[in-house]
Amino acid sequence: MRCLRIQYLHIMNLQLLYCFCFFLLLQLPFSTNGQAYNNVSLGKSLTAASSDLPWTSPSGEFAFGFQQVSNAGYLLAIWFNKIPERTIVWSANRNNLAQRGSTVQLTADGQLVLNNQSGTRIWTRPELGGSGAAYAAMLDTGNFVLAGQANLWQSFDEPTDTLLPSQNLNLGGELIAPFQEKNYSDGRFKLILQTDGNLVMYTTAYPLTTSIFAYFSTQSSIGSGHQLIFNQSGYMYLVATNGTILNPVFSNSVPSQDLYLRATIDYDGVFRQYVYPKTASGGKSWTILPDSIPSNICLIITYSAGRGACGFNSYCRLGDDQRASCRCPYGYTFSDHDDERKGCKKTFISQDCDHPSQEIDSFEIRDMLNTSFPYADYEVFRPVDEDGCRQSCLSDCYCDVATFKDDKCTKKSGPLLNGVTDPSIGDKVLMKVRIANRTAGSSAKKRDPSALIVTGSVLLGSSIFLIVLSLLGVYVFFTRWNRKKQKVIPQHHVMRDMNLQNFTYNEVGVPLDLFTKGY
Ligand SMILES: *[C@@H]1O[C@H](CO)[C@@H](O)[C@H](O)[C@H]1NC(C)=O
Ligand SMILES: *[C@@H]1O[C@H](CO)[C@@H](O)[C@H](O)[C@H]1NC(C)=O
Ligand SMILES: *[C@@H]1O[C@H](CO)[C@@H](O)[C@H](O)[C@H]1NC(C)=O
Ligand SMILES: *[C@@H]1O[C@H](CO)[C@@H](O)[C@H](O)[C@H]1NC(C)=O
Ligand SMILES: *[C@@H]1O[C@H](CO)[C@@H](O)[C@H](O)[C@H]1NC(C)=O
Ligand SMILES: *[C@@H]1O[C@H](CO)[C@@H](O)[C@H](O)[C@H]1NC(C)=O
Repeated sequence: MRCLRIQYLHIMNLQLLYCFCFFLLLQLPFSTNGQAYNNVSLGKSLTAASSDLPWTSPSGEFAFGFQQVSNAGYLLAIWFNKIPERTIVWSANRNNLAQRGSTVQLTADGQLVLNNQSGTRIWTRPELGGSGAAYAAMLDTGNFVLAGQANLWQSFDEPTDTLLPSQNLNLGGELIAPFQEKNYSDGRFKLILQTDGNLVMYTTAYPLTTSIFAYFSTQSSIGSGHQLIFNQSGYMYLVATNGTILNPVFSNSVPSQDLYLRATIDYDGVFRQYVYPKTASGGKSWTILPDSIPSNICLIITYSAGRGACGFNSYCRLGDDQRASCRCPYGYTFSDHDDERKGCKKTFISQDCDHPSQEIDSFEIRDMLNTSFPYADYEVFRPVDEDGCRQSCLSDCYCDVATFKDDKCTKKSGPLLNGVTDPSIGDKVLMKVRIANRTAGSSAKKRDPSALIVTGSVLLGSSIFLIVLSLLGVYVFFTRWNRKKQKVIPQHHVMRDMNLQNFTYNEVGVPLDLFTKGY
């Protein structure tokens, strides 16, 4: 009995051992991927476009390495490694993509160095001069650290466009929006915790990153702080110098054990919090949490000498997905179809100021409801009715657009600034556009000389053909008739009848005459 039990236990142990070995085998690929690289030791390197595995955090949720950006090159980046999108949260060289064969190395003297494919240093941390790190590590928070006796450098101190929970922004710290959704170079908006403690969002003087127009500020609503805290449960708030917690910037509460969380200033200039379910059972995309900042960027950028949320001559509209999209008014098209924020251009030739009265018939007014183009005004008059406003714009070569509200007509001249359409706007925009089939320099009354030449040539050609044909007919008729008359009539008779030619030519020459006159 006892023997049996021992045997039984023995079998159990064997089974456990098998299980354990099988488990180890399963773990092997993951461990080379994850565990072995937890501490990146001196001398280790990664090469862009090679089979090198990125340096991952112990949980495998974050990775550090090269990410390909379209066909343009590689970003040295940190990304969410367990979601298919591989969303990038940080990058070193967003304005200077690395090419195939570039390397990142933790050198023997403890520097993290990005070399281009010819071996030239293009980025180094910590900045030269300080002591080197003993090791590097990708942490489970998404922070990549260079450490020795102390933390020498961490990616959390040098954010690009995203903050992760537990990543705080210190005085002077800033986030710069990417250029486009999939173009990570510096874009047109930024968020900065100014040294005066005010958290501000600015439009930038793109392609520079200098601040232009502040469209959000905590000074009046929340106050000034000395640090922006983003805690694990998704709260984001300023802390005053004396330690007081000020009103939250974001007050969403997120179960961080179930959801990945990030706060990103997007290419459209909006600072948003996003969540993504960690488990496969949930939905499979980044979801925007409530209370994005600002709530409607289309309405909030009111700067009289700049591009606004969209470019010149375009208008901004907040979609149901809370994204601000840029559109062109009727008669206009994007000046660069790969960059909607660059603005729009006319598809027609402007009204001729030398002959405005001749051109009035060539233009029409297209209505746009709930739209406004502030800051391009050059003339206001009232009282006037809507038709008076239309006529006034049509007959004024400076007028690109008029807005009409109540009894007030405001004429505006391009480029149009800060265009926006929104249900809260009561204005009606009257867009002046050239009537589509009447292109510049020709109206229905004018004749196109080239068309006349073509008509003339066709007529001339066909008349010569007719002449030759009739001559042939006459010739055949007379020869036959001559034969029947048994050559009684002399040859010159035929020659006289050949003079028919003159008559025929003259008759067919009528359109030819027209042609000469018309031309
Ligand atoms: C990484 O290296 C440091 C310094 O050698 C050590 O203190 C730490 O425990 C190591 N971490 C891991 C996960 O091995
Ligand atoms: C991103 O946009 C900039 C500015 O237009 C351009 O120079 C750069 O090539 C773009 N990068 C990619 C990866 O398309
Ligand atoms: C590497 O960078 C250096 C310095 O910026 C530059 O002169 C060189 O052309 C680059 N090499 C390649 C292959 O891009
Ligand atoms: C985050 O901050 C909020 C508000 O101060 C607090 O209620 C919450 O407990 C904090 N969460 C964590 C994980 O510290
Ligand atoms: C801390 O500073 C804030 C303003 O910066 C002030 O309103 C508050 O009273 C101060 N609290 C303490 C305890 O000093
Ligand atoms: C648009 O403007 C009209 C007239 O000013 C107004 O009645 C309406 O509520 C606005 N909003 C929408 C969505 O049409």
